[in-house]
Amino acid sequence: MKQPLIAGNWKMNGSRKSAIDLIASILTEAYQFPKIEMAVFPPFVYLSQTEELLTGSGVNWGAQNASPHKNGAYTGEISLEMLKDFNCKYVLVGHSERRRQFGDSPVIVAEKFAAAMRAGFTPVLCVGETEEQHDRGLTWQVIQEQLEVVFELKDNHSSLRDIVIAYEPVWAIGTGKSASPEEAQEVHLAIRNRLGEYDWEIASKIRIIYGGSVTPENIADLMAMPDIDGALVGGASLDAKKFLEIGRKCNSLY
Ligand code: PGA
Repeated sequence: MKQPLIAGNWKMNGSRKSAIDLIASILTEAYQFPKIEMAVFPPFVYLSQTEELLTGSGVNWGAQNASPHKNGAYTGEISLEMLKDFNCKYVLVGHSERRRQFGDSPVIVAEKFAAAMRAGFTPVLCVGETEEQHDRGLTWQVIQEQLEVVFELKDNHSSLRDIVIAYEPVWAIGTGKSASPEEAQEVHLAIRNRLGEYDWEIASKIRIIYGGSVTPENIADLMAMPDIDGALVGGASLDAKKFLEIGRKCNSLY
């Protein structure tokens, strides 16, 4: 069975003090959830404190973004090599906020994904449709296109084993309006089936997590779905009590 992943995407929130406090609070209880994996994605500038506090705790961490370039004249960017210095396990790739607000095109997303794989990280590839696409019945077409661009760049699909896919409907992010468990399950299953066309064994093992207004109230129903293997939590991950409650509920289901 796949170990569920409960990941907290902090986005551009907090301060050095609040980041340290949040991690310290998570650590008071996270060790009691052995059946799941928990991870946090703090802003880059708090990765040092994150590494210091989480090393050896069983809670993992990652970066919210990374440059596909090795080094050079890319003002303001952070390379994967730099992230290695902080022992990040994961890198978020293609979050809808990056795609929509920072011009991360499908090609750039694919390059970041490939670079993260090459550098030995586990990329968390985010895909999801906008409200308009959803209402026009284009959900699967959009998701498929987002997956296709990334997988086309990969010549060795066996390396896809070490990835996580996050289905995050754009209309559900930060809106308090989560996709229904059944709706999310349908997309997760379609993603798994698509991966299965490359390799069924890999597809059955890959974790496909859901993101978009996940809360302690809806996590159990989401996790009851056979193809939902965890959650990428935004807003609720900034509140240690809520994040831990999500972890606790998820742990008790397995
Ligand atoms: P949310 O964000 O939980 O606040 O909706 C999820 C995400 O953007 O990863």
